[in-house]
Amino acid sequence: MSNSIEHRCDVLIIGSGAAGLSLALKMAEHCNVIVLSKSDLNEGSTRYAQGGIAAVFDDEDSVGAHVKDTLTAGAGLCDESVVEYTASNAKTSMHWLINKGVPFDQEESNDGEVRYHLTREGGHSHRRILHAADATGEAVQATLSDQVKNHPSIHLFERYNAIDLIKSKQVKNTCVGAYVWNRTKERVEIIRSRFIALATGGASKVYQYTSNPDIASGDGIAMAWRAGCKIANMEFNQFHPTCLFHPDAKNFLISEALRGEGAFLCHEDGTRFMHKFDERGDLAPRDIVARAIDFEMKRLGADCMYLDISHKSTDFITKHFPNIYRRCRSLGIDITRQPIPVVPAAHYTCGGVVTDFDARTNLENVYAIGETAYTGLHGANRMASNSLLECVVFAHAAAKHMLAGITGKCLNEPISPWDESRVIDSDEEVIIQHNWHELRLFMWDYVGIVRTDKRLERALRRINLLKQEIDEYYSNFKVKNNLLELRNLVCVAHLIVMCAMKRKESRGLHYNLDYPEQLENAEPTIIQKNISAE
Ligand code: FAD
Ligand code: SIN
Repeated sequence: MSNSIEHRCDVLIIGSGAAGLSLALKMAEHCNVIVLSKSDLNEGSTRYAQGGIAAVFDDEDSVGAHVKDTLTAGAGLCDESVVEYTASNAKTSMHWLINKGVPFDQEESNDGEVRYHLTREGGHSHRRILHAADATGEAVQATLSDQVKNHPSIHLFERYNAIDLIKSKQVKNTCVGAYVWNRTKERVEIIRSRFIALATGGASKVYQYTSNPDIASGDGIAMAWRAGCKIANMEFNQFHPTCLFHPDAKNFLISEALRGEGAFLCHEDGTRFMHKFDERGDLAPRDIVARAIDFEMKRLGADCMYLDISHKSTDFITKHFPNIYRRCRSLGIDITRQPIPVVPAAHYTCGGVVTDFDARTNLENVYAIGETAYTGLHGANRMASNSLLECVVFAHAAAKHMLAGITGKCLNEPISPWDESRVIDSDEEVIIQHNWHELRLFMWDYVGIVRTDKRLERALRRINLLKQEIDEYYSNFKVKNNLLELRNLVCVAHLIVMCAMKRKESRGLHYNLDYPEQLENAEPTIIQKNISAE
């Protein structure tokens, strides 16, 4: 045993995306906050968000319509009261972002009035997406991080990985902090805190092809699972239909807003196909569009499908989609003249750590917000642009609840130092790399857009082998980022397969050829580790 360095704060926020930073800014007015970021402060899915954030700003639109569209996309599995809560709080949350300085696009109407420009995406019956051109996430992340950097009560711990939550030995079902890995100093430290918020984003890196950045390894979900939190609906992995297909374009998304503004999907020869699959055509919800592309690619033996917006004027395209235009141009694709090669890729984790209206988990003092959480908003399929909205709405809900209890004392019991007595440096990095690739590939092949019982069983067998190997590795060698992430990814892969095996139907994003029908009653899949058996 060695003596670990111990930090203290009122609120420990693990993650610095839209969810984590919104909570940090709310809480820092009242208490001391530590924000942990596994990489640089700005690295996370938030900064790559393109399309925008859904909120009712148009007089012709209504909260009721936002609710109805979300419920329809969610294929009968959304929690209606959560959808109503989120849609009703959307406008206030967007005004909070606007007051912080997020520069959403504006336009002048015919009568000279300046208002927010609203774009449209799949599943939305109205124009209701606030955006900053096609780089909304960059604008949100930059605005919030400028504010937290200058806040005297917010302490930023960059390049720190949270490893595990620390549970109280004196008070049942309660957390007192977290073990964290200081990547720069290569040592494990302790952060003791009154409240802990998991805001670590999603888990789409468990798949070979993803629109997500490298940090999306499901760490918060895996930590919560190990600590005994309830986890739900991990079988619902959203595949975004249109990621750029190009050997040099790692993870680049082609926003759904292109289809919202008139782009259409087609084969290489220009034949459109979406109307064969859904009467809403190119604006059908994502699960339907991703499956249609997958089907057409397999049917034709094609490497990709195409998205065409070249019928719009060059001015229109470069004004609305400057970021996508530039990126494609740099790879030799002129989107004003030619269709864009696209493929589906893992994009969003609809399931996660079960929370209530106050963003509380079932562990005392622990909250979960943003993509890490399962609030009940997305059901079996998230509607476009509802995710950043959920990040802000539930960060504010968590803040409200924490503030009501902030005067309570931090538990002062001793925390066991990190045990490093048996660990040695590994010179077998190749094993970790190999396991990484193997996991992501079989998850893509067996637990992807279309599943079968046999494929799920195959995946489970491999996961069990990998788990054994990684557990052994984890207890023998010094922790490192790669190993920590792999441990979490295998855990999350296991949760996805467990949930997928429990669902004996096809619904929303979960499509199993052995159960192609939808059951009459829609129930979330809720699982919890049996801690007492350990
Ligand atoms: P993130 O922004 O992913 O941040 C996670 C944070 O957690 C990071 O700071 C990371 O460093 C930290 N972290 C992770 N693990 C650890 C650990 N172990 N220790 C310490 N820190 C850790 N949604 C929309 O609503 N509209 C859109 O237009 C949209 N477009 C998208 C486009 C792309 C390309 C992608 C990938 C997603 C898009 N989404 C969109 C989804 C949305 O961006 C995300 O769901 C949302 O940004 C998640 O925010 P978050 O704060 O939960 O997590
Ligand atoms: C996009 O711009 O297509 C992504 C929107 C989202 O994931 O909500």
